[in-house]
Amino acid sequence: MLLKSYLWLLLCYAQNACSNLTKDYEVVSQYLLAPTDRPGETLPILLGVEKSSGCFCRATSKIELVVCFGNYECKKFPQIKVKSETLRVRTTVIVKILRGQLDSLYHLKVLQIEANHKLQYLEDGLFKNLTNLRHLSISYNTRLYTIGVRTFDGLINLQNLTLVNNGFTNILDLTPALRPSILPSLKWLDLSENPFENIPEKTFEPMEGTKLKKLDVNLCRLDFIHPNSMLPLKQLKELNIGENDMNASLIEKFILKMIDTGINLTSIDLSGMGFRRQPPRPLLDIIAQTTIKILKLAHNQFEIIHDDTFPKMKNLELLDLRKVLALSIGPNAFDPYKFPNLKVLLLGGNNLPGVHRKHLSDQLLIMDMSSNKGISSNPVYFEIDKDTFLQSKMLRILNLSYNKIKSLYNYTFTGLDNLEMLSIENGTLYYIGPGTFKPLKNLEILNLANNPLNANQNLTSAQFQGLNKLKVLILTNCGIRHFYDDDNIFEMMPNLTQLILKNNQLKFLTAETIKPLKFLEFLDLSENLIISWWRPLFLASGIKPRQLYFTNNKISHFSISMVEDVRYLLESRGNSTVDIIFKDNVFSCDCGAMYKTYLWLQVNGSRELKRYFDHSNFHCSSPDVWEGRRISEYLSSMKHLRCLVYKKITSIMLLMWTAPSLVTIILVITLIVVIFKYRIYLSYWLFLAKIALGRKLIKKSLIAENIAPKGYKFDAFVSYCNEDREFISEMLLQLETTPPHLKLCVYERDFEIGSFISESVLKCINQSKYIILIISNNFAKSQWCRWETQLAEYHRLFLEDGSPYDPLVLVKIGEIESKYLTTTLKYLLKTKIYHAWDENNTVDFWKKLRCVLIKR
Ligand SMILES: *[C@@H]1O[C@H](CO)[C@@H](O)[C@H](O)[C@H]1NC(C)=O
Ligand SMILES: *[C@@H]1O[C@H](CO)[C@@H](O)[C@H](O)[C@H]1NC(C)=O
Ligand SMILES: *[C@@H]1O[C@H](CO)[C@@H](O)[C@H](O)[C@H]1NC(C)=O
Ligand SMILES: *[C@@H]1O[C@H](CO)[C@@H](O)[C@H](O)[C@H]1NC(C)=O
Ligand SMILES: *[C@@H]1O[C@H](CO)[C@@H](O)[C@H](O)[C@H]1NC(C)=O
Ligand SMILES: *[C@@H]1O[C@H](CO)[C@@H](O)[C@H](O)[C@H]1NC(C)=O
Ligand SMILES: *[C@@H]1O[C@H](CO)[C@@H](O)[C@H](O)[C@H]1NC(C)=O
Ligand SMILES: *[C@@H]1O[C@H](CO)[C@@H](O)[C@H](O)[C@H]1NC(C)=O
Ligand SMILES: *[C@@H]1O[C@H](CO)[C@@H](O)[C@H](O)[C@H]1NC(C)=O
Ligand SMILES: *[C@@H]1O[C@H](CO)[C@@H](O)[C@H](O)[C@H]1NC(C)=O
Ligand SMILES: *[C@@H]1O[C@H](CO)[C@@H](O)[C@H](O)[C@H]1NC(C)=O
Ligand SMILES: *[C@@H]1O[C@H](CO)[C@@H](O)[C@H](O)[C@H]1NC(C)=O
Repeated sequence: MLLKSYLWLLLCYAQNACSNLTKDYEVVSQYLLAPTDRPGETLPILLGVEKSSGCFCRATSKIELVVCFGNYECKKFPQIKVKSETLRVRTTVIVKILRGQLDSLYHLKVLQIEANHKLQYLEDGLFKNLTNLRHLSISYNTRLYTIGVRTFDGLINLQNLTLVNNGFTNILDLTPALRPSILPSLKWLDLSENPFENIPEKTFEPMEGTKLKKLDVNLCRLDFIHPNSMLPLKQLKELNIGENDMNASLIEKFILKMIDTGINLTSIDLSGMGFRRQPPRPLLDIIAQTTIKILKLAHNQFEIIHDDTFPKMKNLELLDLRKVLALSIGPNAFDPYKFPNLKVLLLGGNNLPGVHRKHLSDQLLIMDMSSNKGISSNPVYFEIDKDTFLQSKMLRILNLSYNKIKSLYNYTFTGLDNLEMLSIENGTLYYIGPGTFKPLKNLEILNLANNPLNANQNLTSAQFQGLNKLKVLILTNCGIRHFYDDDNIFEMMPNLTQLILKNNQLKFLTAETIKPLKFLEFLDLSENLIISWWRPLFLASGIKPRQLYFTNNKISHFSISMVEDVRYLLESRGNSTVDIIFKDNVFSCDCGAMYKTYLWLQVNGSRELKRYFDHSNFHCSSPDVWEGRRISEYLSSMKHLRCLVYKKITSIMLLMWTAPSLVTIILVITLIVVIFKYRIYLSYWLFLAKIALGRKLIKKSLIAENIAPKGYKFDAFVSYCNEDREFISEMLLQLETTPPHLKLCVYERDFEIGSFISESVLKCINQSKYIILIISNNFAKSQWCRWETQLAEYHRLFLEDGSPYDPLVLVKIGEIESKYLTTTLKYLLKTKIYHAWDENNTVDFWKKLRCVLIKR
């Protein structure tokens, strides 16, 4: 992915067509901000079961992509009615695809038939009507051993053909089907991961006259390519034969033949060829004479790169030496004299101890030095020499991520006048000197994610001085707790459009802080500790981001200021869509928290605002009756609720406050002191009171279902979090398979977080003698598991009718971060004896746990 973006940039610079910076930046920033795909969200449209075939299909929201699958039911090629651009048919049990079955798909541009492990036969002419198809992939169908000569008839516009990892063993069987008379537009052919073993002389003869530009035969167990075999591919530009086992002299031979025939390759991939100690010099000498611009030698093994390892390579523009185990590089190995056109140098994933001036070719545009950590047993700090970049006036992208860089000083980056993108994520950066970024006058993207920036230093504006052109700043997981208004770092970056502050420890932001960010479009504050705010933030500062993420914070109320902010953001953007996401917070849905907001919305809410609330999917997390239900549901049912009582109470409170009675004030103060002192217990009592209210109801329903109170089916119900699955397998192994055999109810949860707790979990808990809670950091973090803890606790208290035994068994794995501890968990850990998992003494642990479960 990344390489592709590099190549794109390269191409763009090579043609001098890169005058527009915003476009570069957009391309590159896509890689930085790529949204995390969640399967349920990317294919939201359910097309259901297709009747004639039994396949199950889903689609993206705009129906560009339809995906059909369905292991055992999907036996025939599905007949899709909706017209999408792309169709993917995968993991089915289709055995054959016959002529006519695809005729109605003539609108398709991309078709992918992948991972159908029973597919054996494709009838000739089956693609006859797919004249619009540009890209066809028939891959990972392991039983497809061959393809008929006329299989691809009709695909006159096909440009890309991907035939990766099928059951093909003989390349000679395939090429007759790829004749230019059948596939006149074919440009890219990917035959990787088929075990061909060799490419004989006559392989591509049937393709004489083809326009093929790119050929991939990576990972094909090749040990032989006949020197003449490639000659019919006159237009070939890009040849990828990586991860095969060919010796250099063989490669030399066919490259020489290709030069003689006038085939002008521009790119060759020789990664993972098993070259050792040195890149094969005779081969490099030959490549130096060709038109090749891109040379990939990654995943070989060249520990030491000497000054004379590489010959003069005047055409080379990109050199990929990632993961070649390099320990050191000679000071003149990449001398500008030897590489006058080198623009991209990739040295990531090696064991280099630092960057020094002499590693750089002065005309480089892109330099990747990431992941040079040294050997894990002997990690070293990555060092950047003073004035290293003094001559690097052309450098535009510099990647120093995943290096153990300790500190940056005002002289570290001197010389990088044209740098646009700097990435130092996952360093160990704890010191940034004042003026560090000042030389980077043209920097647009700065990534400092996952560095302990706040461990020793407060962020100051002096550090970020000079970043006038900065557009993207990434400060994910930097331990930031505060921004200071009197020394506001954002004043240094007035042109910022994207600010990512995910996973820090911010409790609030002020309007003053964000005020300088007039162009802000994207603000990500997810995974912080933000609480509700009671003074408008965006309205007051005039900042109007188009995307605003507050996912997973500590917001409990929808205050009027927040609603005003939301309204401001929705309205100021006119018709363009605005995303304001409040998912996974701790909203409390009761009159006290919501009544005023509700009234305000009734009176002052605009149409957009109401629509926003109607379509939003953030949920209440308390009280129990409303837990997991949508806030908009609560708001719309508010009319019928007994909030009038609340209203009265508030007016009485008001009266009390205004009554000038000293006694009242003293009383209140005493109360506050008491509440503060016993706050943990208080909220726990409140919690008990809450569940006690619901008690009668559930009990009735249980009686109605005739569940015998004491006949236990299981020894224990195990509540755990998906991340701790491994531990659970170990536990099952320990407790269930060795005598005396215990029976555990381990619930595979495939239901969605946020939905109601299912009847079956409830039943399972009731049929278990014990309830084991596997308490880990992940457990505490997960909303769902919190639900279960409460349920288990509830069970303990109220379904046992006063008998003395305590069914709750706690197993604690590792330390729990205090920010995740809910009242219930805190209380449990404080009041109950728990079993702490001890990796060094597992035998004892299991013995003890077993003892507890067998008791009584
Ligand atoms: C650069 O591209 C952007 C987006 O395509 C466009 O809005 C802008 O006008 C272009 N600028 C120049 C100088 O061509
Ligand atoms: C074949 O494609 C044409 C359009 O190119 C379409 O009109 C025709 O209906 C298709 N044939 C079938 C059997 O769907
Ligand atoms: C062909 O595949 C390449 C990647 O291998 C991709 O960049 C290109 O967009 C594809 N073209 C079509 C028409 O799908
Ligand atoms: C390279 O491989 C060819 C054929 O596999 C073999 O004949 C030749 O001796 C090998 N050359 C070297 C230097 O190993
Ligand atoms: C390769 O380059 C040579 C010299 O520049 C040129 O004569 C020849 O036509 C090119 N071959 C192709 C297939 O473009
Ligand atoms: C920097 O390198 C790392 C690791 O090689 C890679 O994951 C990251 O995407 C790169 N970042 C940029 C901006 O090139
Ligand atoms: C860098 O900082 C030092 C003091 O820490 C100062 O003496 C020096 O002048 C600064 N250099 C530049 C170029 O600002
Ligand atoms: C980068 O740092 C984060 C947080 O410390 C960590 O979760 C992640 O695994 C690290 N990435 C790599 C590739 O080391
Ligand atoms: C950071 O700022 C806070 C408040 O201004 C101050 O108490 C603290 O000592 C500062 N920390 C450092 C490391 O300068
Ligand atoms: C901020 O960006 C605008 C265009 O987006 C530009 O005109 C202005 O000069 C930039 N400001 C600074 C301080 O570079
Ligand atoms: C927004 O959309 C409405 C109709 O949906 C249209 O009447 C109005 O002119 C649009 N406003 C702008 C600023 O495009
Ligand atoms: C509606 O907005 C006005 C002005 O912002 C405010 O004075 C009034 O209190 C609001 N109404 C309600 C019910 O909150």
